[in-house]
Amino acid sequence: MGTDPIKFYRENQAKYGNYFTYILLGRRIVTCLDTEGNNFLLNVKVAEACAEDAYRSLTVPVFGKGVVYDVDNSILMEQKKFVKSGLSAENLRAYVPMIEMETKNFISRWNKKSATENIFEAMSELIIMTASRCLLGEEVRSKLDESFAQIYHDLDGGFQPINFLFENLPLPSNKLRDEAHMKMHNFFLDIMRSRRESNVKDRTDIMQYLTTECQYKSGRKLTDEESANIMIAMLMAGQHTSSTTSSWALLFLAESPEFFEQLRQEQIEVLGSLEAPLTFDALKKLTLHDNVIRETLRLRSPLLCLIRKVLRDLPIPGTDYVIPEGAYIQCVPTISARSEQHFEQAEKFNPHRWNIPEQQNKTQDDHFVDYGFGALNMAKAKSPFLPFGAGRHRCIGEAFAYVQLKTIVATIVRSFRFELPGKLPECDFTTMVVQPKKPLLKYVRLD
Ligand code: HEM
Repeated sequence: MGTDPIKFYRENQAKYGNYFTYILLGRRIVTCLDTEGNNFLLNVKVAEACAEDAYRSLTVPVFGKGVVYDVDNSILMEQKKFVKSGLSAENLRAYVPMIEMETKNFISRWNKKSATENIFEAMSELIIMTASRCLLGEEVRSKLDESFAQIYHDLDGGFQPINFLFENLPLPSNKLRDEAHMKMHNFFLDIMRSRRESNVKDRTDIMQYLTTECQYKSGRKLTDEESANIMIAMLMAGQHTSSTTSSWALLFLAESPEFFEQLRQEQIEVLGSLEAPLTFDALKKLTLHDNVIRETLRLRSPLLCLIRKVLRDLPIPGTDYVIPEGAYIQCVPTISARSEQHFEQAEKFNPHRWNIPEQQNKTQDDHFVDYGFGALNMAKAKSPFLPFGAGRHRCIGEAFAYVQLKTIVATIVRSFRFELPGKLPECDFTTMVVQPKKPLLKYVRLD
C-alpha cells in the first residue's frame, strides 16, 4: 500500500470486488472502487459521512480558521461559490496573457541549445508565479522572489501524510507551518488594507472579488480574515496538483514526441502562426492541447484517493455490507480511469482517444461552462474519469487549472521539444499529491 497503492488496490479488487477494508495505523479504511464505488462515496449524504473530519487535521493548520474544513459544510458551499464566481470567464480571459507572459519570462532561462532540468521543480516555480499573479494579485507576485517564497515553503511543509493521520504533532516543521500561516495571513490582510486606501477598482484577481463582492446568504459579509484564509486554501489546493500535471504532461509528450509537432500544427491552424498571442477564445479551440491535459489527468490523477469519515452506520447499496460509524471511506478514481473496462489500452498515453464522441461522454470536465453545485453534479459521479471529484466537494479550480495548464504547455511547445533521458519516471506515492520520481527532462531549443 505504501509503495505501490495502485497494485494494492487492483490486487484486492480482483480478490474481493469493489469494496474491501484494510487497517492503516489502527484506522479502518473502507475502499470503494470503480464507478459504483466513486458514485457511492461522492454522493454520500452530509449526515452520513463527511470530508471535514477526514481532512481537518491536515488542512486547518495550513488554511487557517473559519474556512473550508473548519466550518459547517453549508458555509463551505457558500465559500466555494464565492471563489467560483470570482473565477468568471471574464477573469479567466484576463489571466491568459498574464500566464503567457510569466511562462515566456520563465523559459527565457532555458537559454542553452539543450540541457537537462528537473521538470517538477521547474513547473512548481512556474505554477506558483502564474497562480499568484492571476489569483492573488500583483502585490503577492512581486514578493515571490523574496520573503513570500520562504513563507510558502514553510507553510507547504505542513502538508505531510503524517499530519493527515495525527493532529497537532509537535514537529519542528509544524512550528514553522504555524508561523508561516500567520505571516501569510497578515501579509494578505496588509495588502487588503492598502488596496482600500488606494481605491483601485479594475483588478481581476480573486482577492479583489472576495473583499468587495462577497456576502453570505445570512447577509453577513465575508471578513478579511476569512478572505485571507480562502486565498491561502486556493493557493495550496492548486499548487501541487497543477505542478504535477504540467510535469507529467511534458514527460508524456517527451515519451511520444510526435505530439510536439501536432500541437504546433494545431496552434498554426487556430491562431495563424506560432507568434500570435494566445487568447482565451483561441485556447477553447485548441482541442489537442485540451486532450493532452485530459489524458495526463486520466493517467496521473494528482489526488489518488478522496476520503470521508463515516458518521453513522452506512449500508453499501446492492451489498450486505454496513460500514460502521467511525470508519473512513475512500474512493480511488484513478482505478476506474486506468481500467481496461472503461478505456481501451488504458495504460497508453493517447490524447486522440478523446476525439471519439463515445469517450467524450465519459468526461465530466465541462470546464468552460458553469457546472454549479448539487444535483447537477450528482449524476456525473458515475463517470470513470473524475480527476476533479464530483458532488458537493467537487473542485472549483478546474476551469482555472485548464486555462493555466493549456497556456503553459502551448507557450512551451512553441520553442522547445523535450527528450526523456531514460524511461518515464515512476510515481512517488509517499507525498500527499502523486508526483513523478526524479523527473529529469532534456529540453532542446527549436530556434
Ligand atoms: C476539490 C483536484 C486545482 C480548489 C478538489 C477535489 C479534487 C481536486 C479531486 C475533490 C476533493 C474531495 O472530494 O475530497 C484538483 C486537480 C487540480 C485542482 C486535479 C489541478 C490539476 C485546483 C485549483 C484550485 C482548487 C487551481 C483553486 C483555485 C479546490 C477546492 C476544492 C477542491 C476549494 C473543494 C474542496 C471541498 O469541497 O471539499 N480538487 N484540483 N483546486 N479543489 Fe481542486
